[in-house]
Amino acid sequence: MNKLQKSLIALLAVCLLFFGFVVVRIGVAKPASAVKVAAIPAGEMDPAVWGKYYPLQYASYQKTAEGAPSPTGYGGSVLVQKSQMQPEMLTLFKGMPFSKDYAEDRGHIHAMEDLRETKRIGPASKGACITCKTPYVEQAYKEHGWDYANKPLTEMMDKAKFSVACSTCHDPATMNLRVINPAFIEAQAARGIDVTKASREDMRSFVCAQCHSEYYFEPGTTKVVFPWDKGLKPAEMYAYYSETPRGFVQDWQHPDSQAAMLKAQHPDYELFSTGNHGTAGVSCADCHMPYTRKDGQKYTSHWVTSPLKTLDDSCTPCHNQGTAWLQERVKTIQDQTFELQHMAGQNIVKAHQAIQAAAAQPGADQAGLAKARELVRKAQFYWDLLAAENSMGFHNPSQALNTLGQANELAHQAIEAANTAAGIKMF
Ligand code: HEC
Ligand code: HEC
Ligand code: HEC
Ligand code: HEC
Repeated sequence: MNKLQKSLIALLAVCLLFFGFVVVRIGVAKPASAVKVAAIPAGEMDPAVWGKYYPLQYASYQKTAEGAPSPTGYGGSVLVQKSQMQPEMLTLFKGMPFSKDYAEDRGHIHAMEDLRETKRIGPASKGACITCKTPYVEQAYKEHGWDYANKPLTEMMDKAKFSVACSTCHDPATMNLRVINPAFIEAQAARGIDVTKASREDMRSFVCAQCHSEYYFEPGTTKVVFPWDKGLKPAEMYAYYSETPRGFVQDWQHPDSQAAMLKAQHPDYELFSTGNHGTAGVSCADCHMPYTRKDGQKYTSHWVTSPLKTLDDSCTPCHNQGTAWLQERVKTIQDQTFELQHMAGQNIVKAHQAIQAAAAQPGADQAGLAKARELVRKAQFYWDLLAAENSMGFHNPSQALNTLGQANELAHQAIEAANTAAGIKMF
C-alpha cells in the first residue's frame, strides 16, 4: 500500500464514521417510522379498539397498570398516602377532603378506578372531577357544554367507561396530537395561544398540560379554570387568586387559623415550563414517552411513568454522563427539595397554631390577625405548589427551592404577625 492509498482509506473511514454518526443522530431526532393511519371512527374511546391497529403503542400503554416504587424513594406508582412521609399534611389540610385521602399518583389506566375509590368524593361531588380522568369529557362537553361540570359526579362516572386513553391525545382520523380539555383550550386562548395551531414540539407537552396543571372551580358552576391570566410562575398565580377571580375566594377555611386557603393541584406543567428543560425546548414526551424499539421497529413508548425506569431511552439522547450519574443527580435534587418542603410544611403548621392561639386572646388586634391569615394563606399555597407537584423538584430545581424558601419565610412572618397581634409569644 502506498501513501496515497493509505490516505484514501483513512479518508473513507472518516467519511463512514461521520455518515454513521449522522444516521444515528437523525434516528434519535426523527419521529418513529411513519405509521399507517387506521380508520377509527370519531368518538371511539376504547383503547383496545385502537390497539388492534397500533399494537406496539397499545402494549406499552397497558404497562401503565404496573405498580412499583421509584428508585429514589419519591413518587412511584403505588397508592401510598403522602402523609406517611409528611404527617404535617394532616394538619395543613384539616377541614377539607385532602386530609382524608391523598395518595401518590399511579399509571393512567387506573385514573377512573382511583377517582371512584378515593375517600375525597361524596354524594355532593360534581361532574367536573372527570375532566382530567377520561376521554369521555369530549362527548360530555359536546352534549352539555360546561353544564356537565355541575352535574352529579356519579352520573358522569357512570358514562365515563375509560381512563386517560388514545382519544385523549390523538385525533382518530389523522392520529395527530390534539387536546380535548376545554379548560386548557380556554386558558391558552386567554394567553393568545391557539392550540389548534401549536407546533408538534409544543403539542408533545400540551397533551400532558391539559391535565397536569393547577386549576380551580368557578363558584356556582364548577367550571374548571386555570389561573394563568398573569403567567405561570408562583407569584403570578398568587396575584391572580388575590383578585377574587370569577368570585372565587378560597377552596376552604382552615379550622385552626380561620384563614381562607387555596389548594394547589399538580402544577407539573407550570414548574416544568419555566425550568431549564422547559425553556430549552425539551417536551414532557421526550422524557416520559421516549422512543424505544421492539424487533427493530422504532416507536413512542406509551408507558407513561417515572423516567427513572427508562433512563437510557429518556435521557441519553441528550446527556452523555451515564445513567448512574443521572439517577444520582435526580436523587440529590429530590432530597434537597424534600428537606426544605418538610421544613416549610412543619413551620406552616406552627403558623396555623400561632394564629389560633392569638385569636383566642381577648382584645387581640383584628387587623393584625387578618395580616397573619393572609401570610399563612400565601405560605401554604407556595408550599403546596411543590407538595402537589409530582417530580419532587426535578422539573425545575432552582425554582422549587426558591418557592419553598419563600414559603418557609412567609410561615415565620405569619407567626410573628400573630404574636404581635395578641402580645404573646406562641413560638
Ligand atoms: C397522554 C397522551 C397520549 C395518549 C393517551 C396516547 N398517545 Fe399515542 N402518542 C402520544 C405522543 C406524545 C406521541 C408522539 C407524537 C409525535 O411526536 O408526533 C404519540 C404517538 C403515537 C403514534 C405514532 C407512532 C409512534 O409510535 O410515535 C401512534 C400510532 C400512537 N401514538 C397510538 C396511540 C394509541 C393506540 C393510544 C392508546 C392505546 C395512544 N397513542 C395514547 C401521546 C399519547
Ligand atoms: C386526561 C388527563 C391526563 C392527561 C392528558 C395526562 N395525564 Fe398523566 N395522569 C393523569 C392522572 C389523573 C394521573 C393519576 C392516575 C392515578 O393515580 O390513578 C396521571 C398520572 C401520571 C403519571 C404517574 C404515573 C406513575 O407511574 O406513577 C405520570 C408520570 C404522568 N401522568 C405523566 C403524564 C404525561 C407525561 C402526559 C403527557 C404525555 C400525561 N401524563 C397526560 C391525568 C392525565
Ligand atoms: C427532563 C426530563 C423530564 C421532563 C421534560 C418532564 N419530566 Fe416529569 N419527571 C421526570 C423525572 C426524572 C421525574 C421523577 C421520577 C421519580 O421520582 O421517580 C418526573 C416525575 C414526574 C411525575 C411523577 C411520577 C411518579 O412516579 O409519581 C409526573 C406526573 C410527571 N413527571 C409529569 C410530567 C409532565 C406533565 C411534564 C411536562 C409538563 C414532565 N413531567 C416533564 C423527568 C421529566
Ligand atoms: C431533549 C434533550 C434532553 C433530554 C431528553 C433530557 N435533558 Fe436534561 N438537560 C437538557 C438541557 C438542554 C439542559 C440544560 C442545559 C445543560 O445543563 O446542559 C439539561 C439539564 C439537566 C440537568 C441539570 C439540572 C437542570 O434542571 O438544569 C439535569 C440533572 C438533567 N438535565 C437530567 C436529565 C434527566 C435525568 C433526563 C432524563 C429523565 C434528562 N435530563 C433528559 C436536555 C435534555
